[in-house]
Amino acid sequence: MSFKPASWPRKLRSQEWFGGTGRDQIYHRGWMKNQGFPHDMFDGRPVIGVLNTWSELTPCNAHLRDLAERVKNGVYEAGGFPVEVPVFSAAESSFRPTAMMFRNLAAMAVEEAMRGQPMDGAVLLVGCDKTTPSLLMGAASTDLPSIVVTGGPMLNGYFRGERVGSGTHLWKFSEAVKAGEMSADDFLEAEASMSRSPGSCNTMGTASTMASMAEALGMALSGNAAIPAVDSRRRMMAQLSGRRIVEMVKDDLKPSDILTKPAFENAIRTNGAIGGSTNAVIHLLAIAGRVGVDLTLDDWDRCGRDIATIVNLMPSGAYLMEEFFYAGGLPVVLKHLCEAGLLYKDALTVSGAPIWDEVREAVNHNPDVILPVDRALTQQGGIAVLKGNLAPNGAVIKPSAASPHLLKHRGRAVVFDDIDHYKARIGDDALDVDETCVLVLKNCGPRGYPGMAEVGNMGLPPKVLKKGVTDMVRISDARMSGTAYGTVILHTSPEAATGGPLAVVRDGDMIEIDVEARRLHLDISEAELAARLAEWSPPPDQPESGYAWLHQTYVQGADTGADLDFLRGCRGAPVGRDSH
Ligand code: FES
Repeated sequence: MSFKPASWPRKLRSQEWFGGTGRDQIYHRGWMKNQGFPHDMFDGRPVIGVLNTWSELTPCNAHLRDLAERVKNGVYEAGGFPVEVPVFSAAESSFRPTAMMFRNLAAMAVEEAMRGQPMDGAVLLVGCDKTTPSLLMGAASTDLPSIVVTGGPMLNGYFRGERVGSGTHLWKFSEAVKAGEMSADDFLEAEASMSRSPGSCNTMGTASTMASMAEALGMALSGNAAIPAVDSRRRMMAQLSGRRIVEMVKDDLKPSDILTKPAFENAIRTNGAIGGSTNAVIHLLAIAGRVGVDLTLDDWDRCGRDIATIVNLMPSGAYLMEEFFYAGGLPVVLKHLCEAGLLYKDALTVSGAPIWDEVREAVNHNPDVILPVDRALTQQGGIAVLKGNLAPNGAVIKPSAASPHLLKHRGRAVVFDDIDHYKARIGDDALDVDETCVLVLKNCGPRGYPGMAEVGNMGLPPKVLKKGVTDMVRISDARMSGTAYGTVILHTSPEAATGGPLAVVRDGDMIEIDVEARRLHLDISEAELAARLAEWSPPPDQPESGYAWLHQTYVQGADTGADLDFLRGCRGAPVGRDSH
């Protein structure tokens, strides 16, 4: 791919606000000068929005104000004018009903913050799960030059000498308490060991996955994803990115130049190699939808098939992001994939160079963390897309997080109509369930929950856990935390709340899964399935106003990225009429 720089200097869009001696320009500059900015900041240099998802209620991003200062230093050094702008921060750990319901709202807010204000490019300061895709989606829809800087992962957690992975050990400890193998007091003591520094989840959960996806897509500088939040090199990365965005504006290097179909295919293959989160499926589909790239679930299955998972990180493996960084980080993985002929080496990155140029010198410093292919965690990494009468539009499973003996299974359905039904029934010793059953959870999709909560890895019944069983087949239209594990089939589409076949599964039905054959089958006749679907009616209690109504009315299925239908597409960044 060749990239031709635009002629420079040229008039930038920010000059519509700040350039000239008219009343409107004096108005815009005058207000800005109340912050003490000297006049030459408005002389036609690139104005860079430092879009900051800092929030004390997004603890994973709570250190981003410090990083923003480093970004600004870099922007100034390169001759730009940085302006820090707070944007919607969809916190994974505390937003209810689920942060995912607000990803699209955040993306919409970011898009309009970029389009409606005087900026020529943006640094996307992100970290926590939904913050990365939401800002990428918004930036993609404006197509203004943009670069991702993530906040970086937390340092390793340790409890009594053992590594504690964000999320992963929360699930493990919680199940151990239910099984009577861990005391409630020990669980409380472990809490303090889980998050011992600033930063995002330290496992290969969704935050680390999306940081890796941003880098694999070419939207972040090489090496960005794995640098720990508190490492001095994280600050350097922020400063270098600040310098780089100014050059990107001068070169008019836009998201649409970088976010091409080959870039998405590179990211999908990378996701297989790192054992990345199933959430990446939904987010990449949504980002692709913003730039008009025709990416589908079938692309996920095709590109991810037979990619060896070589990054030995929890939840699939043993280590954490800190060790991934010391081992060389994502550039080592990208170099391996390039050398194996699995990536488009000439895919453009924010540096202006192709991805191969960025990673060709990478060195693996720890082959226990970044494994050779013959010692891979699995040769069939990636995300498998299952189809059948239970999921005509597809469902996904992460085989590397599943139990091999359950990847082909036939079992009796134990059905929960929604999350409240599940919570009410799962602990009941009278529940007719054993480890051969298939747990089915309905009405937790994009519309049903609403927002598609991460409840797909529903905990096992205590009576099964007490037998020492740690995994069962679970099927739902929900998502799963990237830090979770198990034989968990997710994103079943169409979802139950829109009348997908999941809605009509009943207790006692037999369900067959065959991951190798990519099959998910409800073993009832076509006539029976049709009769049940004809009887189906939508669940009650739909919201009648507010954002929840907007979300439920316009959200699309998980199989296309769960974006709001009117937000798909690139609308560019035309400068609107001045209001004064
Ligand atoms: Fe924020 Fe995991 S909860 S990164």
